[in-house]
Amino acid sequence: MSARLEAEHLYKVFGGRPDQAVERLRNGADREELRADGATAAVIDASFTVEPGEIFVVMGLSGSGKSTLLRMLNGLLPPTAGQVRFGGQDLTGLDARGLREVRSRRISMVFQHFALFPHRSVRDNAAYGLAVQGVPRAERARRADEALALCGLAGWEKSWPDELSGGMQQRVGLARALATDAELLLMDESFSALDPLIRRDMQDQLLELQKTLKKTIVFITHDLNEAMRLGDRVAVMRDGRVAQIGTAEDILVRPADDYVASFTQDVDRSRVLTADAVMDRAVRGDEADCGCETATPQTPFTELCAISARVSHPVAVLDARRTLVGVVPRQRLLGFLGDEPAAAPDRCDTPRATDSAKATTTDSAKATTDSATDDAKAVARA
Ligand SMILES: Nc1ncnc2c1ncn2[C@@H]1O[C@H](COP(=O)(O)OP(=O)(O)OP(=O)(O)O)[C@@H](O)[C@H]1O
Ligand SMILES: [Mg+2]
Repeated sequence: MSARLEAEHLYKVFGGRPDQAVERLRNGADREELRADGATAAVIDASFTVEPGEIFVVMGLSGSGKSTLLRMLNGLLPPTAGQVRFGGQDLTGLDARGLREVRSRRISMVFQHFALFPHRSVRDNAAYGLAVQGVPRAERARRADEALALCGLAGWEKSWPDELSGGMQQRVGLARALATDAELLLMDESFSALDPLIRRDMQDQLLELQKTLKKTIVFITHDLNEAMRLGDRVAVMRDGRVAQIGTAEDILVRPADDYVASFTQDVDRSRVLTADAVMDRAVRGDEADCGCETATPQTPFTELCAISARVSHPVAVLDARRTLVGVVPRQRLLGFLGDEPAAAPDRCDTPRATDSAKATTTDSAKATTDSATDDAKAVARA
């Protein structure tokens, strides 16, 4: 079971006169202006909804406000302004006792550093949240063991934390969060302290677990590839503000501004993009049955490159009914690999010396827009 999480116009200002600072931020002031008055605007006007079963990743540089935002989501920090609702319940209106109750039963947090108790067994560490809830010992052990098994730690229940590797310790942290049956998991740089290979393993494990558990998850990272890999949607934060919220493809292909574009420059596009994101849409739904290999909108970028290398014309993208929905010229694939998603036209429209007098800007623009249509026709004809 999980529920919808809603953040509405959240602000957090440290120091200074917070209410006044929020007013100034609403009127367009930025962090720097407030800093001059001794106030830190950690989070500025953050609004988003995380659907049940969704992994929502918050990414941004150090100091951009990610942890502060996360702490407001479970009431560890009261917002200076705005509201947090979980499953329709207004968390910002709860008193300390109500918040403790919500935090112990409905929301779990997994931190960057394993935060395990060294003198408790792996089982007791995993059962910690249940002990806080007052669950009887035998049931605690049963549920902790189940969660440990889900995280690949069956057989390690009686071990001590220092007998486990870093990756295994982090799994105990994850098992602790899962054991309570919390509907909302808040994960702050949970995998950042791990070696790259183990980190990837943990990412896989989380994605695998999520297929069956379908928790509502907010995952914080400043690793772009991790964000793109895990996030159903990703929020990019900059200086306290949310610069863009979208799918990994939205953010790579349609960045909201230059900052987001430069931020995502180093992302390994070939791991994220699918045919749907890179194709030129077909103008009309032609049947395409030339017999050559085709792709679907879900075909991963790397596979698309392989197909493109094998067929002599732009790759046709067909939907489930085998209707042509787009085409992918090879130039377009190269453009995405080379950070030029706008891609060059599919044929050379540089005027030749002989006809340069005839070539006009309008002609070359038309050649560019026509190329998708021509490709579609070429594929349909072939
Ligand atoms: N308790 C606090 N008192 C004053 N300022 C704070 C406090 N907590 C955070 N800040 C400031 O708020 C801003 C955002 O901090 P936050 O910890 O949310 O960033 P972050 O994105 O999580 O960074 P990192 O990636 O380094 O963890 C920073 O400028 C930080 O100095
Ligand atoms: Mg942080």
